[in-house]
Amino acid sequence: MDTMNTNTTNEMNKASMTNDVNTMSSDCRHAAKHRELGALRGADNDADTVMTNGANPTVMNDSSNMDKPNSKLSIDRISFVGAGSMAEAIIRGLINTGWIASRQIVAVNRSNAERLQQLASLYDISIPTDEAARDQLITSSDIVVLAMKPKDAAQAIADLAPRLHERQLIISVIAGLNIGSLTRIIGKPLPIARTMPNTSSSIGLGATGISFSERVTDVQRQLAQTIFESVGIVRIVEEPLLDVVTGVSGSGPAYIYYVMEAMIRGGIECGLSPDAAKDLTLQTVLGAARMVQETGEEPAELRRKVTSPGGTTQAALELMASNDLQETISNAVKRAAERARELGAALEK
Ligand SMILES: NC(=O)c1ccc[n+]([C@@H]2O[C@H](COP(=O)([O-])OP(=O)(O)OC[C@H]3O[C@@H](n4cnc5c(N)ncnc54)[C@H](OP(=O)(O)O)[C@@H]3O)[C@@H](O)[C@H]2O)c1
Repeated sequence: MDTMNTNTTNEMNKASMTNDVNTMSSDCRHAAKHRELGALRGADNDADTVMTNGANPTVMNDSSNMDKPNSKLSIDRISFVGAGSMAEAIIRGLINTGWIASRQIVAVNRSNAERLQQLASLYDISIPTDEAARDQLITSSDIVVLAMKPKDAAQAIADLAPRLHERQLIISVIAGLNIGSLTRIIGKPLPIARTMPNTSSSIGLGATGISFSERVTDVQRQLAQTIFESVGIVRIVEEPLLDVVTGVSGSGPAYIYYVMEAMIRGGIECGLSPDAAKDLTLQTVLGAARMVQETGEEPAELRRKVTSPGGTTQAALELMASNDLQETISNAVKRAAERARELGAALEK
């Protein structure tokens, strides 16, 4: 790995964002595939506190998420504390938008140096050379993203707290940890954006709910929104509704996988090859989602349109209805939201 130390003094380039609307290709044949790897521009900022690999970063290039808002917003540095899969998804999304230079992004974790080197090598982001550098980079960040597991959060945030201050926006992706608890652990009231992203963020098709503490400014709100729009869509909700967001979109991908498993199994049991059953199911789910998106019609209306009286679809839907499938799925959403509340309450203890 071609890793190098670089020098201080040059201030980092301010990031800028464009205000283009997120558009998606109409060709759904491409939607299931990871986008081609594309080399993005490197930044020319330096700091003696950071290590970068110095090469052009190679990242997944999702054309559906390029060019995000907004030209007035700019930051010098964003730090990710916790460098796991969610942090990587957001880092990749941010670099893809082009509004922030890769070296303005800092990642730190607890102990896995190899993982940090891997991220630096893949995305040309900055990683600290030592503890002092780590502290300095975090303190000088405009935005600090908390991206460790809930079980590690209390200790990690308590350790981090002396480095945090009121000019920073704190963004948490930690499931269940509410703004009140975060503030208590930090020990001072800072601007906090609490978010609930989902796994599809890793391919730029995430769905994220965000709520804000009172101290978050309008500009910080836009920044938080912009960051998560780089990996999908965003909905702003009151904090108690983040548990419902968890029930709908946080856990939601698993519900769809579950339905897909059942459709594939049904196809195989009726004689299709596993590959054919999987491919047909996958394309059906993609196509159905895209139909809702592109036609703007309600799912119920689209369902009615494909259900001929006495036909095959009606026969299948009647069987589902007689087994209360809609009720079951709707109750599952509520149960997941309730479980999110339970886990959140446990974290407060
Ligand atoms: N993955 C998802 O789809 C998803 C969706 C919604 C929300 N979330 C939330 O995102 C958060 C991260 O999830 P993940 O899947 O990305 O986790 P992950 O892959 O396990 O990564 C966790 C990271 O946290 C770091 N860490 C642990 N303790 C730390 C400390 N004291 N100081 C600094 N870093 C520390 C770990 O570093 P070491 O490896 O060095 O220990 C690791 O880099 C979780 O709170 C989760 O609830 C995830």
